[in-house]
Amino acid sequence: MSVNGNKKGLFARLLDLSMSFMDRERASIVSEAKGVVLEIGFGSGRNVPFYSGVEKIYALEPSDSLYGIAEERIGASEIPVERIASGAESVPLPDSSVDTVLSTWTLCTIPGVASALSEVLRVLKPGGRFLFIEHGKSSSRRVALVQAALNPLWKRCAGGCNLDRDIEALVRGAGFGRVELEKSPRKGRPLAFSYKGTAFKAPVP
Ligand SMILES: C[S@@+](CC[C@H](N)C(=O)[O-])C[C@H]1O[C@@H](n2cnc3c(N)ncnc32)[C@H](O)[C@@H]1O
Repeated sequence: MSVNGNKKGLFARLLDLSMSFMDRERASIVSEAKGVVLEIGFGSGRNVPFYSGVEKIYALEPSDSLYGIAEERIGASEIPVERIASGAESVPLPDSSVDTVLSTWTLCTIPGVASALSEVLRVLKPGGRFLFIEHGKSSSRRVALVQAALNPLWKRCAGGCNLDRDIEALVRGAGFGRVELEKSPRKGRPLAFSYKGTAFKAPVP
């Protein structure tokens, strides 16, 4: 393997390790998924063990190194998983073809996040749900200023992750029929602010 390949492999393992600290929070959102699912930013597949009774998962993940780790978890599951090796800005699925789209800590990283959210809306069936748990801009003005100041350095060190995206504004501005949202500071992590929610494609059931 090349030096670049080794670096990517190491980064993928480190990301997998850092995302393991979120595992307790995954269960409550992933278990809400139903039917045909598109997961954007599938990463190292840490959500796989938390799915129950879904028909199929389209696993959208641009990184081969992360998907390589995910394959170990996919192998231990009975749910059919099909990889989409592209960014979420352009999803090669037909309009109105999936019941659920899931995103866990991914909207922070997608470069064209507004395009990705229009793709989410396009591929969802009418009444379908976008489930998300994300981190982003704090509701405290002071913390948000610190997040904005640190973001350029953070983004370089953390593989393109942004500390200060306004997830509420992005999701509410994407054209869903209804958005249900819980926001809270993250305990013990002063720079992280959590957004957990469901956005419904109209007509809302
Ligand atoms: C912080 S990780 C989260 C991974 C996973 N969702 C989890 O909960 O463990 C961010 C993910 O976004 C993916 N990503 C980066 N650019 C993307 C894009 N344009 N479209 C979709 N996913 C992207 C990364 O490869 C990575 O898997």
